[in-house]
Amino acid sequence: MSNIRVFFALWLNAAERNQMATWQLTLKYLCGGRAMCGETLHSTLLFIGDVASQRLPALQLGVREIIASDFELCFDEARYWKHNHIVYAAPSAIPPPLIALVSALEQRLKALHFKFDQRDYHPHITLLRNAQLCEHPLPVMQPVYWKIRDFALVQSVPHDGLADYRVLARFPLCARSE
Ligand code: 2AM
Repeated sequence: MSNIRVFFALWLNAAERNQMATWQLTLKYLCGGRAMCGETLHSTLLFIGDVASQRLPALQLGVREIIASDFELCFDEARYWKHNHIVYAAPSAIPPPLIALVSALEQRLKALHFKFDQRDYHPHITLLRNAQLCEHPLPVMQPVYWKIRDFALVQSVPHDGLADYRVLARFPLCARSE
């Protein structure tokens, strides 16, 4: 029986990726470190970790039952976590449908008897790892507006001592009636 390492995330589209690449250039210049691959930039919703491959179909089917609305999210702040040397993008305002989505995922996974990381949820996109020189305030960045229409189940694959990310499935959100 083989295990794979998985998590749920918001997966950036080309438009947001390009804008975040500009943030990465500026921030790497200021802070050093290693820029995360633009193709796989994401914002983790819930981290599961190792799971038996044979449980994946049950996980995907169960999560398809979640009914949650689409929403807009604006990443408008560059921030630094000193404890792990990560420079990341964060939203200054957290929309209620995002909290509702994370909560629905947690409830669903509990019902399906999947264990997951229960640390407090802090929406972010990791942009740089091993950043060192972030004592100064980070600059004001051009806000990145993102229409969230779905979320993804992602596999983390070890690759040359780093992690490569592969989208295994996408789960559409419901369009809001306006
Ligand atoms: P990070 O970018 O802040 O490190 C895959 O590892 C993704 O899941 C990353 O976006 C990572 O966040 C996130 N993640 C959340 N909890 C994790 C954990 N306990 N171990 C590894 N990654 C975790």
